[in-house]
Amino acid sequence: MPVSEGKSPEKIRRMFSSVSGRYDFFNHLLSANLDRFWRRALINELRIGRGSRVLDVCCGSGDVAIACARRGAEVTGLDFTQAMLDKAAEKTSRGKIHVCWIWGDACALPFADCSFDAVSMAFGLRNIARPVDALRECVRVLQPGGRLGILELCPPQTGMIHGLYRRYLGVIPAAVRMFGGRCRAYRYLGASIETFLSPDKVMEGLLQARALRAGRRVLFPGVAHLFWGEKGG
Ligand SMILES: C[S@@+](CC[C@H](N)C(=O)[O-])C[C@H]1O[C@@H](n2cnc3c(N)ncnc32)[C@H](O)[C@@H]1O
Repeated sequence: MPVSEGKSPEKIRRMFSSVSGRYDFFNHLLSANLDRFWRRALINELRIGRGSRVLDVCCGSGDVAIACARRGAEVTGLDFTQAMLDKAAEKTSRGKIHVCWIWGDACALPFADCSFDAVSMAFGLRNIARPVDALRECVRVLQPGGRLGILELCPPQTGMIHGLYRRYLGVIPAAVRMFGGRCRAYRYLGASIETFLSPDKVMEGLLQARALRAGRRVLFPGVAHLFWGEKGG
């Protein structure tokens, strides 16, 4: 798969730094809170329990990692935007929940092979210039039989949904401006979905990354997809 145009790590990092302050607010607003259900579906797909070692790649402001820790897992959250990691760390600074927040690149994970029982990535893959490299890294750090869960927004594949979705993406910058956000960054959001891989290509990527078995389901028609992969023995 080619390196996606315009996804230089530096640009992506700057963009997420610029929205980190109100990232959660706009996530919930723009998805009408559906993002909370989608993240829960992702976590269920990981099949984790007390003591499971979980890595949340592209953890951002930390919601997936924190929810896994609430289920008793030993969680590491990794991201390459320090401002997002700071937001995540703020959320765990006072409570009983412990997550190990680590700065790192999804394409070169700083962990030994087979270190985790489960690896998750929510809304991260679309921002990575070489998605298959990141998937390969996720599978590498999984122990045999471990589960990888990927939550992502893909470009709609049917004409009617695509039309509706384009309209929705078109009004996002104005909505963001109305609530005092940075509409330029949210224009990127639309473009990153439109230019991302189709769900079939993500599945191909998972298999190329050496997941032994993989599957997917639709969480929101045409747009929100949950992918899973399992590492072979
Ligand atoms: C849309 S946010 C998703 C955050 C979080 N997972 C969530 O559910 O809201 C994407 C995150 O991926 C991070 N990211 C993008 N490319 C990355 C890379 N190559 N390595 C590590 N983090 C990356 C960004 O810094 C950003 O925090």
